[in-house]
Amino acid sequence: MEATFAAARPLRGEVTVPPDKSISHRAAILGALAEGRTVAKPFLLSEDCMSTLSCLHSLGVEWGLDADRLTIDGKGPDGWRRAGGELDAGNSATTMRLLAGALAGRPFTSVITGDDSLRRRPMGRIVEPLRRMGAEITGEENNSKPPLTIHGGGLEGIEHRMEVDSAQVKSALLLAGLQAEGETRILGGGSSRDHTERMLLLMGADLTFAGEDAMTVRRATLQARELDIPGDISSAAFLIAAAVMVPGSRLLLSGVGLNPTRAGFLSVLNSMGALVTENNYRETDNEPRGDLEVGGARLSGVEVEGWRIPALIDEVPLLAVMGCRARGETVVRGAGELRVKESDRIAAICVELAKMGADIAETPDGFVVRGPVSLRGAHVESHGDHRIAMALAVAALCAEGETVISGWECVNISFPGFARTLHDLR
Ligand code: S3P
Repeated sequence: MEATFAAARPLRGEVTVPPDKSISHRAAILGALAEGRTVAKPFLLSEDCMSTLSCLHSLGVEWGLDADRLTIDGKGPDGWRRAGGELDAGNSATTMRLLAGALAGRPFTSVITGDDSLRRRPMGRIVEPLRRMGAEITGEENNSKPPLTIHGGGLEGIEHRMEVDSAQVKSALLLAGLQAEGETRILGGGSSRDHTERMLLLMGADLTFAGEDAMTVRRATLQARELDIPGDISSAAFLIAAAVMVPGSRLLLSGVGLNPTRAGFLSVLNSMGALVTENNYRETDNEPRGDLEVGGARLSGVEVEGWRIPALIDEVPLLAVMGCRARGETVVRGAGELRVKESDRIAAICVELAKMGADIAETPDGFVVRGPVSLRGAHVESHGDHRIAMALAVAALCAEGETVISGWECVNISFPGFARTLHDLR
């Protein structure tokens, strides 16, 4: 499916962004591991989160949706049953990695697979420590790629030092550790998103921290909760970037998640000269949130080093777009993880923005963009990656002429209705 975008008039108005995708996945999975009725609202009704729900259904977990209100009747991990067939995680690595962690503790065999993109993504990072805990797991390419066959149960706690700063790996180990004998200690990985830790604490897990870089989880029964899910800052980021780049814009975004492990994009925007005002900061269900006000700004180039990447990992393609409109050089380093996301996001954004006239050069772990340049409309490709598709749509709003984006349907992975939302703000 193709979508066509042209230069935007100023974006004005108030918008509620879709619920957080990471937190929605966790609400479903932790709710399924807990005892009692978990209610999560609003739950993100996107393809990725539906993949999680459909896997849980296959595992015998009872849940219901009433519009965007999810109810899960958890019976603890012992209530999970062997699925009749393969579990399909679709495009969602969060579904595959977190469920693999949970299934490593279940005494039956599961096979979990996904679409072409997911079957190319690295799984050795979870398979190795989960096997060390005692789960039998095999996969393609020397156990490093999906489909994964997991025969779980009889886990023992381990100490694991994180090699990549990945919330998905950390979460897989926490969900296995919840079901293991003894202590599971995770060292490092402290700067990746911490939604799992926050929700586990709300649900009564035995999780303790020693300094910023070590945590220990022990077996415990999770208690069901009512969870109020904030707006997804990674979805908000596309609208924020559009408002910053299209002169005369002014947007109000209410109830956006402002967890510091996710909000790195806002501080980089600040360094680029954009002003995003946070109002009404509050914390609900252990997750900070607030209302954001943003308008058009003159941007300057910025250097973003590796230590800042985890808190804005999914927003990096947008930095390339914004770099095209900023005066001077925008340099991103230490973002090699982007090469193993839904697409190789470094290659994808560089190739596609170059078609629109960007002065951008790919590096092994990032890119260098020189600006400002006048972007021009072009025929570009999403690479089947929702965040690339939406970043290109934002670029199109400040380009001359029309941009046609093919493979547009992938935006339903995280932000169904994105094109309509943009349209309604103009
Ligand atoms: C996610 C973690 C990040 C992020 C992904 C969602 C999560 O991946 O890129 O979109 O929900 O835990 P990594 O943890 O692999 O960096």
